Amino acid sequence: MTIVGKILGSNILSRAITSFFFNSPEQKILNQKIHGIHFKNPIGLSAGFDKNAELTVIIPEVGFGFEEVGSITGEPCEGNAKPRLWRLKKSQALVVYYGLKNDGAEKISTRLAQKRFKIPIGINIAKTNCQACADTDTGIADYVKSYRKFLHIGDYFTINISCPNAFGGEPFHDGEKLNKLLAAMKKYPTKKPVFIKISPDLSETQVDEILKISKKHHVSGFICTNLTKKRENLKILDKQVPENGGISGKAVENSANKMIATIYKKTKGKYTIIGCGGVFSAEDAYKKIRLGASLIELITGMIFQGPQLISEINLGLAELLKKDGYKNINEAIGVDTG
Ligand SMILES: Cc1cc2nc3c(=O)[nH]c(=O)nc-3n(C[C@H](O)[C@H](O)[C@H](O)COP(=O)(O)O)c2cc1C
Repeated sequence: MTIVGKILGSNILSRAITSFFFNSPEQKILNQKIHGIHFKNPIGLSAGFDKNAELTVIIPEVGFGFEEVGSITGEPCEGNAKPRLWRLKKSQALVVYYGLKNDGAEKISTRLAQKRFKIPIGINIAKTNCQACADTDTGIADYVKSYRKFLHIGDYFTINISCPNAFGGEPFHDGEKLNKLLAAMKKYPTKKPVFIKISPDLSETQVDEILKISKKHHVSGFICTNLTKKRENLKILDKQVPENGGISGKAVENSANKMIATIYKKTKGKYTIIGCGGVFSAEDAYKKIRLGASLIELITGMIFQGPQLISEINLGLAELLKKDGYKNINEAIGVDTG
């Protein structure tokens, strides 16, 4: 997939052909300015598809309004041993066990340093998947290494604290550790918005703790959510589910939606929420927006249905908003959560 994308992005003709087949006319009703960044539409490519930031030229031609690259880690990482990706056909979900395979902050920042982007680019950073980084201070130093490399590249940061497949688990869901991580980043101030990407499997107490800590730091919002680790899920219809890995798509949709509503309600809409998990249609995206998301990200829907899905969602979303009497998408954010 990455090779095809790289080839299509490599010259003006193949980019124009891609745009002709997949892109759709801009819908003004979907335009938003968020933290000073212009989003022509709210549909973004989620982290994990363009791990090494090699597709930033072709992704806008498919119709996406923004793209998140990564996760990028302090050191290059081979990821977990194969197999590490399974398709749960009946459940419209993927089981993902990549374990943060990527080229590392040094190489990827060099790749992006001189580039100009057509759409906003999010830099998603995580700690390197290795035994050493399971230690809190080493893990923090690893995050900070990537963060510093990208201080002047891209439009926003995502701190991924919820990779379900890395050595040592997800320690930065813990309030004290998250506080230490955000304090370490504070030494290198940025004007860019910073999002925290969280797991759908958190308890309410954990969410409260993360919100409490986030208040003290430069946190602009949350990505709700990453993959779920839970197997006891009514939406999983396939009999065989591999033991390892996090699950995407329809299996995570309900928990992700619950998380959007919870955070929107608890914070009275003060944070920007990027809704992610199981978006396969305009209706799915609209639901997340009405629950409190300002922006949407996806991967699995596109893998199951193809790249034309992005334009279908944008056109469908514009229609749904008009039908409900809205003049701009921002009027619909959170209306179902109150
Ligand atoms: C193949 C694959 C790789 C992923 N890798 C990452 C990653 O490196 N970093 C990250 O923050 N999320 C990663 N994710 C999670 C997605 O960004 C997203 O949060 C999740 O898949 C739910 O969205 P979806 O149902 O639209 O796929 C990955 C997902 C998939 C399917």
